[in-house]
Amino acid sequence: MIQYEKATGDFDLTGKVAVVVGGAGGIGEATARMYAKKGAKVAIVDCKDNCQEVADAIKADFGVETVGVKCDVTSQASVDAMVDKVIEALKEVNILAAMPGFVDLYRATDIEIETIEKHLAINTVGVFRVCQAVANLMIEQGKGGKIVCITSQADFIAINKHVGYTMSKAAVVGMIKVCALEWAEYGINVNGVAPTVVNTYMGEKAWQGKVKTDMIEKIPAHRFAETDEIAAAVLFLSCNESNMITGEDLVVDGGFTIY
Ligand SMILES: NC(=O)c1ccc[n+]([C@@H]2O[C@H](COP(=O)([O-])OP(=O)(O)OC[C@H]3O[C@@H](n4cnc5c(N)ncnc54)[C@H](O)[C@@H]3O)[C@@H](O)[C@H]2O)c1
Repeated sequence: MIQYEKATGDFDLTGKVAVVVGGAGGIGEATARMYAKKGAKVAIVDCKDNCQEVADAIKADFGVETVGVKCDVTSQASVDAMVDKVIEALKEVNILAAMPGFVDLYRATDIEIETIEKHLAINTVGVFRVCQAVANLMIEQGKGGKIVCITSQADFIAINKHVGYTMSKAAVVGMIKVCALEWAEYGINVNGVAPTVVNTYMGEKAWQGKVKTDMIEKIPAHRFAETDEIAAAVLFLSCNESNMITGEDLVVDGGFTIY
């Protein structure tokens, strides 16, 4: 059962432990900072080398306990070791934000199968791997928990040259629904946040020049999203204000998928 807890509107996470996978990336660090501002202890998990530096900066800015753990989500051994290190440092896990991400753009006629498989290995199987590992831990802890995956507007609409990325992200929507169904009895909410283009490394990689200006023109808000706007949606789905929401994929797209 997912318990009722009074929704105060504070979005408070005092004393919670949050793991942010992809935490050294643009949306990941913004999410980790918002969690810390709300009182959570934070683990920064990423395949980059600077996880501890990001964790140290968040500790300095917000005064919460943090840890940085280098981890490659395509490796089961790496994910298992990551969970052990987070437990050693922060004792338990109450929130998982899963957002490792990879994109490479080709038309569907030209993309190599290896590139499709790389999208799936990171964005789909890698995300499931961390969700499964953390959910099993949450079930063992017996206190419920919150899992939020970053999906994409590509879940809902076709985007040119995004076939590998779209396959990998749309699959996560199905995964979210099944996990939400199966894990509700343990008090675990599982949701997604589906952004439009966000101003990060990945956003810059996929959207440059004319495709960028054309895309901005099509978005009713007439701009790309900023990382804090996605982090705010992730925060909402990570605190008790959203206890009655599970299996959802919350679109944050400035109206792009209205069409
Ligand atoms: N930026 C956008 O326009 C946009 C739009 C919709 C969805 N998203 C999604 O948001 C999430 C965050 O992306 P971002 O925009 O912050 O980009 P980003 O490139 O800044 O962050 C992605 C992070 O994932 C990490 N990562 C990649 N492969 C990994 C692996 N094998 N193991 C562990 N970590 C790995 C990277 O090192 C990086 O820090 C991604 O899932 C992305 O697909 C981004």
